[in-house]
Order: sequence, then C-alpha cells, then structure tokens
Amino acid sequence: MKVTVFGIGYVGLVQAAILASVGHDVVCVDVDEEKVANLKKGIIPIYEPGLTPIVEQTCKDGLLNFTTDAQAGVEHGEVQFIAVGTPPDEDGSADLKYVLAVAKTIATYMTSPKIVVDKSTVPVGTADKVSVQIADVLASRSAELEFDVVSNPEFLKEGAAVSDCSKPDRIVIGTDNEASKAVMRELYAPFNRNHERMIFMDVRSAELTKYAANCMLATKISFMNEIANLAERLGADIESVRQGIGSDSRIGYQFIYAGCGYGGSCFPKDVQALVKTANDVDYKPSLLEAVESINYSQKQKLFSHLNTHFAQNLAGKRIALWGLSFKPKTDDMREAPARELMEALWQAGATVQAYDPKAMEECQRIYGERDDLILCGTKEQALKSADALVVCTEWPQFKAPDLAMLKSSLTHPVVVDGRNLYEPSMMKEKGFSYYAIGRGD
Ligand code: UGA
Repeated sequence: MKVTVFGIGYVGLVQAAILASVGHDVVCVDVDEEKVANLKKGIIPIYEPGLTPIVEQTCKDGLLNFTTDAQAGVEHGEVQFIAVGTPPDEDGSADLKYVLAVAKTIATYMTSPKIVVDKSTVPVGTADKVSVQIADVLASRSAELEFDVVSNPEFLKEGAAVSDCSKPDRIVIGTDNEASKAVMRELYAPFNRNHERMIFMDVRSAELTKYAANCMLATKISFMNEIANLAERLGADIESVRQGIGSDSRIGYQFIYAGCGYGGSCFPKDVQALVKTANDVDYKPSLLEAVESINYSQKQKLFSHLNTHFAQNLAGKRIALWGLSFKPKTDDMREAPARELMEALWQAGATVQAYDPKAMEECQRIYGERDDLILCGTKEQALKSADALVVCTEWPQFKAPDLAMLKSSLTHPVVVDGRNLYEPSMMKEKGFSYYAIGRGD
C-alpha cells in the first residue's frame, strides 16, 4: 500500500520504517531540509536501538523515501499520516499549528480521495478541526474529493520504539467510516498476527484513549512517589512496598518505581494538555493536577538532599552526575530530572561533572560551553574530586559500581540516588551518606 508520513520525528520515522519493513511503499515528508538530506545519506536524527538497520534496509529496497516536496508526498499516499509535533503552548495546551498546516497542505495538493490519519498526540476534537481545515481548502479549490480523518494514536516508548511499533499490544483506530476501517485493517494486517490487536472506536474515544493511557501511567508513578514520601516519614521501605503491591496482578509490577520524577516528551506534556482540555469543558481534574504537582516536587528532591547535606552551601562544590537522559536507552533530555537538578546546582554556584552513555552530545547542544558544566568521557572521570554523586538515570552501567573506587574518588562520600539502584544498608556499611527515594533517611 502507498503511504505518506508527514513529520520525520520520533513517531513518524519509526512508524514509516516499520510500515516499509513489511512491504508498504512509504514516502516521508519534512520541512527540515537538513534532516531530509541527512536521512537520504543514511544519517538518522535520533538514537533508537534497532532502528538504523531497518531504515538502511528499507531505503535499499526502495520502500522508504524522504523528501521535502509536499506535493509529491500528497500525490503518493492513499493513506496520509500526520506525525508532526504538538509542542505545549504557554498554557499547557497542545499547539496544533503544525498539524493544521499539514492538513492544509494535503487539501491543497490532493487530486484523489485520501485517508488522513492523526498519529500525533492531539487533543480530543482535533480530528474534527483537521476535517474542517481540509474541507475549507477543498471548497476554496472547488474540488469535490472524498476524505476521512482517522485517529490512530501511537503507543511506542523511546528506547523500545522498534519492538513497540512492530509488535504492538493494540492498534487503536478511531473512525466511523467503513471504507477507512477496511483500509486501516489492510495496512496493519502484518502486525495483527496470532490474535486480534485492532480496536475500532469513534474518533473522539481514540483521541482520549491516548491521553488516558499516558495519564494513567503518570498517575501510577506519582502515586508511588507519594507513597515513597510517606515511607520516608514512616520508616518504611518503598522497594519492599513496591514488591508487596506489584504482586497483586490487578496492580502489576510495571510503572510503580518511585524515583526522581517522570520526564520525557510525553508524560509531562500530555498530563498538562489533559488538564487544559478538562478546564476547557469546565471540569476540574483534581487527580491529574495532583499527579503533575507531585512530579514537580519530586524533581526538586535531589537538589534538596544535596542542599540539606551541605548546609545550604553548595557554592564552589563539584557534583558528579550519572545519567542525563530522562530514562535509559535514549539520548533524549526533554524534561529530564537531570536538567532540573543541574540548573538548580548552577543557581547555587556548584559545578556539575556529568556522564551519560548516550546523551553527552545532546547536553552539549542544549547547554553549550559553560565553566560550571564538565562533560566527562567516563563515569569514573565524573567522580574525580567531586563532593558528591547523584544518579539521575538507571542506565545498567551504573547499577554495580566499584564502591571502594567510588568512595576514594569522592571528596565527601555522599551519594544521592534518584533511582533506588543501591542497597541502603550496604551503602551505610561502606561509610556513605546515602540518600535514596522512599527508603528511610
Ligand atoms: C511514554 C509511554 O510509556 C508510551 O506508551 C507512549 O507511547 C509514549 O510515552 C508517548 O506518548 O509517545 P516514554 O515517554 O518513551 O513513553 O517513556 P516511559 O518509558 O513511559 O518513561 C517516562 C518516564 O517515567 C521516565 O522519566 C521514567 O524514568 C519514568 N518512570 C517510568 C518512573 O519514574 N517510574 C516507573 O516506574 C516508570
């Protein structure tokens, strides 16, 4: 099937490559000329395990092509995916200007019927706005062409995007149009083996499903962080509590890890956007507001432990930081807890010595050269003459450090562990001042 994907970001590129890998003929369109030129040379703009060989192979097979030529893109696909960004507005609502610009482009150039698929995470009601946009442009062209706008949200996780996309738990498709249902069924047939994964529903329910999924996961995390804060005050251990509740299959083990707060390009943005959507329909989303405010406080905890330990005197201190990305297996630092911490440390006059297995270049790109940021080539170098170590991301290489080396490298044996990687009793026995999340003081 001929498919066009507008927007070669995370979602667009992974989706396009996976569709091409099963034999669909996919053209990706982006306004960013440099990105398109690089992709044509095989340079992929994101780090995602397993993606590069799929992009290389599908390009070689002629099934994955990149262009800035929007008209050619519109002509190509029977199905037109919109996978452009929806950055948050100042008030937290998703900014639809890129989505609506693509809708306008499709309507401007289409000469045959199209199925337009919203893949970007967009607020409930967006498909209707996209329909109105397309209908208006078609009317101005006096073109009578059929189209349907389908909501087909993406549920991939960074770091596991290839397997999430090629072996999806579910494929949610929002449309009431029978012809669109048949086309979407054919498009996704290769991913619907062994058991039925397609869930058809109306457009608005599909749009809300995406927000409900991310907000539910964010709620689990904030809930655990709240219980962790209670555990600290009650002399309980959140890691024992986690295992105790996770064993109840109704609760489950996933997304119940307390830590230094959730980050990334999705949870913070989507929780805020759903709060805004709720406000717009005169509903006060008390639970979602609490999820967000708990996460905000949680991200301050690492700094607060350091500040208290060093008696509010962090000026001139050197702090080693292990982990910059918002989670392992990605170089993405959007809304990463490490950023909140670094910025607070700089404000207090401290210097950060940071190491991350993948996000060093990204950190350099965001913060540039500055005297109070030293990007170190190894995790050991980051420790040299540092006054304390903070762990922000649970990369596997941080899980079993040589504690003797750790202690001898640090000027003060202080470890602030934002991901509960180490055993508090062991750390104390080895002479560290050890601060974790929800595991006693
Ligand atoms: C999230 C969802 O998990 C995907 O299903 C969804 O498709 C995606 O957003 C999206 O909307 O595009 P992602 O942002 O890649 O995926 O990252 P997650 O693995 O969900 O992690 C989000 C944050 O939660 C990370 O900062 C992580 O450290 C934190 N987290 C996760 C915890 O603090 N505790 C946990 O138990 C789990």
